[in-house]
Amino acid sequence: MSETMKAAQITHYKQDFPKITDVPLPKIGPKDVLVSVIAASINPIDLKTKDGGLKILLTYDMPLILGSDFSGIIIEVGASVTRFSIGDAVYGRVQKNRIGTFAEKLAVSQEDIALKPTNLTFEEAASIPLVGLTSYQALHDVMKIKPGEKVLIQAGSGGIGTIAIQLAKKMGAFVATTTSQKNTELVSSLGADLVIDYKTEQFENILSDYDYVFDTQGGEILEKAFSIIKPGGKVVSISGLPNAKFAKEYHLPLWKKIALTVATRKLTTLEKKTDSHYHFLFMIPSGQQLETLREFIEAGDVLPVIDRVIPLSDIKEAFDYSQSGHAKWKIILKIN
Ligand SMILES: NC(=O)c1ccc[n+]([C@@H]2O[C@H](COP(=O)([O-])OP(=O)(O)OC[C@H]3O[C@@H](n4cnc5c(N)ncnc54)[C@H](OP(=O)(O)O)[C@@H]3O)[C@@H](O)[C@H]2O)c1
Repeated sequence: MSETMKAAQITHYKQDFPKITDVPLPKIGPKDVLVSVIAASINPIDLKTKDGGLKILLTYDMPLILGSDFSGIIIEVGASVTRFSIGDAVYGRVQKNRIGTFAEKLAVSQEDIALKPTNLTFEEAASIPLVGLTSYQALHDVMKIKPGEKVLIQAGSGGIGTIAIQLAKKMGAFVATTTSQKNTELVSSLGADLVIDYKTEQFENILSDYDYVFDTQGGEILEKAFSIIKPGGKVVSISGLPNAKFAKEYHLPLWKKIALTVATRKLTTLEKKTDSHYHFLFMIPSGQQLETLREFIEAGDVLPVIDRVIPLSDIKEAFDYSQSGHAKWKIILKIN
């Protein structure tokens, strides 16, 4: 086996785009497996990580190989690995302090992976972990959606939205979503009950009395969500600011807790005014939940949705496209 591998890495924050470099092979711990990565997906978090945009929550040593989720084949197992064997086809989302899936080989804990859904290609499987887990945790763990409840999913045509619509429908919700006109048909085909063209219509003028909003946009769009939420409802954001409650749960230092309390004053006021709850979600990797998603996928309840497959060597093109903010569905990097 070659002692080095190709990987897409940065040497400093705000680098234009990651460079393909020869780096040493990763070493596995006793509970890790070594995966020959076949595909990985690009997520907005990769751009934010590259630009140091998550420093309040995560800091990294340089050089840094980017990439959060992947699919591939196990080629080595650690001494204490019990759940997987060499040759298993798997998919996963690595822990945030162990990112680096834009590489030919990856060391990952057995706790953070699951067997790849048998009905998906490796490219399709790589599209699922990050957006699937985030959507599942928002809709199932935080909102605990029950049949008949109403949820607005912002940006239904994005990587998150496409999976979130399907999961919310599986849970029996009435789903409203925002997208632009060119993607209306697409989000309807995924099950959205009500589609709002965000370029010509204002969702806050159309919707009211919603049980939940799944916010993927932050800023003013997040603030407007409170005008459609019913008392006792939940606004769950993955793009807004973390609040003091999150800072406490995430064990952030006191100064960060104070800074976030100040920064989210407006959201706290809106929560009180509307008698609703604001929740910032920072997704947690989970092999167990990937098992659940695998069952949904194999049952045909959730379909992968891919926009483009781009070779690792063209990583700049992949980053530029993701940065445009108008990718529909997922962008996949083909690695091996
Ligand atoms: N906190 C966490 O754990 C976590 C986890 C995952 C993702 N995130 C964050 O969630 C956000 C969404 O991620 P993603 O993967 O879904 O992004 P994405 O795939 O890049 O989203 C692109 C989509 O957003 C749509 N869009 C853009 N502006 C919009 C608007 N104002 N209203 C409605 N739709 C709009 C675009 O549709 P058009 O082309 O029609 O404009 C496009 O289809 C990112 O900021 C990401 O960092 C956070």
